[in-house]
Amino acid sequence: MKIVQVGSEMFPYIKTGGLADAVGALSTALADNGHEVTVFIPGYRSALEHKDAIGAERKLRLKVEMGDEFLSGEVRVFTPRKNLRVFLICRDEFFDRRGAYGNGDRDYEDNSDRFIFFCKGVVEMLRLGDLQADVVHCHDWQAALLPLLLRQAERRHHVTLALKTIFTIHNIAFQGVFPAKTFARTNLPDDLMHIDGIEYYSQINLMKGGILFSDRVTTVSPRYAREIQTPEFGCGLDGVIQTRADDIVGLLNGVDTAVWNPATDAVLPSRYSSVSMGGKAICRAELLKKFGLGAEFKGPIFGMVCRLTEQKGVDFILANGDFFLSNELRLVVLGSGDKRMEDELRQLAAKAPDRVAFSAQHDEALSHLVEAGSDFFLMPSVFEPCGLNQMYSQVYGAIPVVSRVGGLADTVVDVTDNPSTGTGIMCPPSAAGLRAALNRALALFADTPRYTATQQHGMGKDFSWKVAARGYESLYQDAL
Ligand code: ADP
Ligand code: GLC
Repeated sequence: MKIVQVGSEMFPYIKTGGLADAVGALSTALADNGHEVTVFIPGYRSALEHKDAIGAERKLRLKVEMGDEFLSGEVRVFTPRKNLRVFLICRDEFFDRRGAYGNGDRDYEDNSDRFIFFCKGVVEMLRLGDLQADVVHCHDWQAALLPLLLRQAERRHHVTLALKTIFTIHNIAFQGVFPAKTFARTNLPDDLMHIDGIEYYSQINLMKGGILFSDRVTTVSPRYAREIQTPEFGCGLDGVIQTRADDIVGLLNGVDTAVWNPATDAVLPSRYSSVSMGGKAICRAELLKKFGLGAEFKGPIFGMVCRLTEQKGVDFILANGDFFLSNELRLVVLGSGDKRMEDELRQLAAKAPDRVAFSAQHDEALSHLVEAGSDFFLMPSVFEPCGLNQMYSQVYGAIPVVSRVGGLADTVVDVTDNPSTGTGIMCPPSAAGLRAALNRALALFADTPRYTATQQHGMGKDFSWKVAARGYESLYQDAL
């Protein structure tokens, strides 16, 4: 198949979260399965500076209609592996910036223009480059307008640009909602500024467009596919999702084993596997040393790596601050985002610097070391579309302590419910729920045979993208 992926992130060129890992790994897996894969991402600074993109071919000069003006840009292309091309939609004024979506806590004010331009640039490249896609697969709100824009362009130019469009929701909490006046920048017909179009409480909602106007809708876990049809998790779009209930399917993300595999992970001080665990002790000591937590410590280490947002349950951790201060354990948190959460984590660490450590960096190598060096991995999310870290942690032998929501519930098996197959500890998404789970973690750690068996169950699971990509292949085939 000729498959086009469109999203705002792709590892290793630009990453703020799991979207990048998912788009990168899915594209690679499909290319390795022999499909002709083309990925579109914005020409962010980090992408332009990546070694793969140096010398990228200048493919097309863009003149993109935005309301009553035309904005210029350029499409560049490079080929990082067989069957995989990456197109960058460039306009330096929009994308040659340090952050993908904003500076620190604040979103860029021109995000609507940036991503409408991005989608329109993709349509132009599909049209003028004659790419003849079988499937155009769009990810999250930044690419959500594409299915609509594409069909409009087909009508206008009497061409077929794609046989089918697919839209994947990675996180319904981010919808791309902008003031009504933004609608003019889309150049879509006025009848789409309507409740059956992308109008949303007198504003526009780009994700709503993706949900309503693509041929198939997917999300990243079966449980989240059900959850987002309820007011509790639907973030106001549950009614819209329900109208597509027959077309929505939850397909779990996977683990890119070329990047996340303790047996081959080059950034670790030592490698290990389920049959040879010695290296994990070395990673553990290195993690403790790096954070000044005493390399000799033998008790349980709890690790956490995440964007600091309400989603990730950081407040449940903070509410249990006394637990981490009063028990013989170590806590390492790597994460950045919300400034209040950063401050409170810093304060917690300052109360017991030999016990609790916090780093507010975004550090890819360190995130691997936290997974490898920890005994437990904390992910008490309020909601979680899929989540990747709880899968990485199982593969790395750090037992996940997670909320029973979304993809966490679909990828972790609670060890009390299922002692013979359990891989982790699950709890309700609350501070009290987490407290009970943390106490269960301490008890599990104290019971070495049970701890080791749980760890082995996790390390034995196959989360590879081979499985995940197969699900998408069947979906594409079915749609076609
Ligand atoms: P989300 O996409 O909601 O942030 P996921 O669990 O799907 O959650 O993916 C998060 C990804 O981002 C993981 O690869 C994780 O390791 C990475 N990540 C998050 N915060 C950091 C950080 N501070 N440093 C390095 N990697 C991080
Ligand atoms: C989103 C979700 C996360 C998911 C990731 C990749 O960022 O928050 O749960 O794993 O997308 O699909």
